[in-house]
Amino acid sequence: MRARILVTGAQGQLGRTFQEIAPAFPGLEFVFAGRQELDITDTRAVEEFFGTQELHAVINTAAYTAVDRAETEAEKALAVNVTAVYELARAAARKGLRFIHYSSDYVYHNELNRPLRETDPTLPRGVYARTKLKGEEMARQAHPECTIIRTSWVYSQYGHNFLNTMLRLGRERDELRVVYDQVGAPTWTRDLAEASLRILEAFFAGRLSAQRMAGLFNYANDGVTSWYDFAKAIFRLAGLPCRVQPITSDEYPTPAPRPHYSLMHKGRFRKAFGLDIPHWYDSLRCCMQQMGVMADPQTTAG
Ligand SMILES: NC(=O)c1ccc[n+]([C@@H]2O[C@H](COP(=O)([O-])OP(=O)(O)OC[C@H]3O[C@@H](n4cnc5c(N)ncnc54)[C@H](OP(=O)(O)O)[C@@H]3O)[C@@H](O)[C@H]2O)c1
Repeated sequence: MRARILVTGAQGQLGRTFQEIAPAFPGLEFVFAGRQELDITDTRAVEEFFGTQELHAVINTAAYTAVDRAETEAEKALAVNVTAVYELARAAARKGLRFIHYSSDYVYHNELNRPLRETDPTLPRGVYARTKLKGEEMARQAHPECTIIRTSWVYSQYGHNFLNTMLRLGRERDELRVVYDQVGAPTWTRDLAEASLRILEAFFAGRLSAQRMAGLFNYANDGVTSWYDFAKAIFRLAGLPCRVQPITSDEYPTPAPRPHYSLMHKGRFRKAFGLDIPHWYDSLRCCMQQMGVMADPQTTAG
């Protein structure tokens, strides 16, 4: 029997990526639910859904992700990122389902300037970051065997993200100002989604215990960059002549503060799952190739 996996938030960028790669996982069966099919803040709907569907695992990609808007919509962010996560995790735990949930590098926001480990102190600043950390706690409380993956700088061909914004602005403008004093690692949704499914695949094949897949894991693409260098790489690969001016975060104030350093250490993920993590530049190139926006699809130089 194939394991049946519910993917919530199925119309978001990570959710859509799960839909895209699902055919590559013939051993798994999927139930995709966007907000229309399953509003995760509707506890009764969640209970009903779990009561009527035969499921073995839940991947929760649904989230309130408008980082700056969250400063004035705290209740909405809290409802989706905290309360609903608790209810979902609890429903999954009651049915004995695996539960994978995503969190953010923003929960660290400490003053450390070396790759951040899961055991490092958290100091979330801003509403979104605080709800993500609280959501982790709620998930663990409701489902002690859940898997929580902290990720960073997520992009894809879908929806709102840095890559799509740069491609749009790069076509419209001759010059852009991009911050260079925030460093971290971009994450292509396809790598993150694939890694998540490899974990579930291993679990359902009996190659990974529930205990080993449980816990908190950092996952981002390998390597390190700044938003400035990320923008330059996008323009170079897309062949866009747009110039990029490096600016500091002070010159680009945002309602919610951003961490200057959010590079995450991925040793725990590698050790637990033994999966390769592609370098961010290679993944960016693959993503842009897939989108058909590369200036020269043969470009391989780093
Ligand atoms: N994007 C990043 O840079 C980043 C960085 C670190 C971590 N993460 C985390 O990674 C995960 C995936 O993020 P993403 O980039 O795929 O976000 P996304 O593109 O914003 O997708 C989130 C999806 O959740 C849906 N949603 C919101 N409220 C819902 C509700 N009440 N019920 C059901 N669905 C609901 C949204 O629908 P609507 O569009 O209708 O609201 C949207 O389709 C999230 O946990 C996020 O916090 C993201």
